[in-house]
Amino acid sequence: MRQNEAGMPRHVAIIMDGNGRWAKQHSLAVALGHRKGVETLREIVRYASDAGIEVLSLYAFSTENWKRSKPEVAALMKLILEFFRSEIDELHANRVRIRILGDTQALPEAQRKAVAGADLRTADNDGLQLNIALNYGARDEILMAVRALAEQVSQGQLQPELIDAQRFEAQLYTAGQPDVDLLIRTSGEYRLSNFLLYQNAYAEFMFPEVLWPDFTVQHFEQALADFGRRDRRYGGRTT
Ligand code: FPP
Repeated sequence: MRQNEAGMPRHVAIIMDGNGRWAKQHSLAVALGHRKGVETLREIVRYASDAGIEVLSLYAFSTENWKRSKPEVAALMKLILEFFRSEIDELHANRVRIRILGDTQALPEAQRKAVAGADLRTADNDGLQLNIALNYGARDEILMAVRALAEQVSQGQLQPELIDAQRFEAQLYTAGQPDVDLLIRTSGEYRLSNFLLYQNAYAEFMFPEVLWPDFTVQHFEQALADFGRRDRRYGGRTT
């Protein structure tokens, strides 16, 4: 049983897609699409925190996003820094716990410090667990876990036959958190794009057509309501 009493998903993951198309539709620079996307993000985090969702994972910057133009990468990095600086007080006051998914070593120093500070400051909070994926790629995450277990084996600390799901999951960025129940990707694209491949094994997928900057709390409520009506069988049968 992975849903709580009210049919609410414990873990929601969101691929916030469509900022570029939104900017184009409004004849604006792509950076302004991302800026509008951060406004949506703020609203959705507030809602998830109030609604009692346990974990919210947001795909903010993938390992592949470095391939975008220099100005776009710089704009995203600036927004990330601004977000962590301006929102941390409110998030902390609301007992939100921030965890970064991804290799933060490759981030510019200011961003690295800001995210490490947010993680540390909110580490003991008991509200919404907010995962922000930054320089994240699921294949890298899985390989990192495999390497860590292989290291333990080579040091004689672990027998290969003792490697099970629990030990494997303990090496992932999401260690200790439940699997994803509901995955939402906005903008009508039907791809997972290397996001939480292991954790999404039994997730329900939803692909609303709306672009991320236009995604509202009402769209989110609709997705949660639709989730409550899905029949989750985990490979079994209900009849
Ligand atoms: C996808 O839209 C979105 C991204 C690659 C970045 C998402 C980032 C944010 C919403 C803001 C930064 C995050 C934080 C934590 C402050 P796209 O540009 O691929 O859209 P397109 O497919 O329409 O071009």
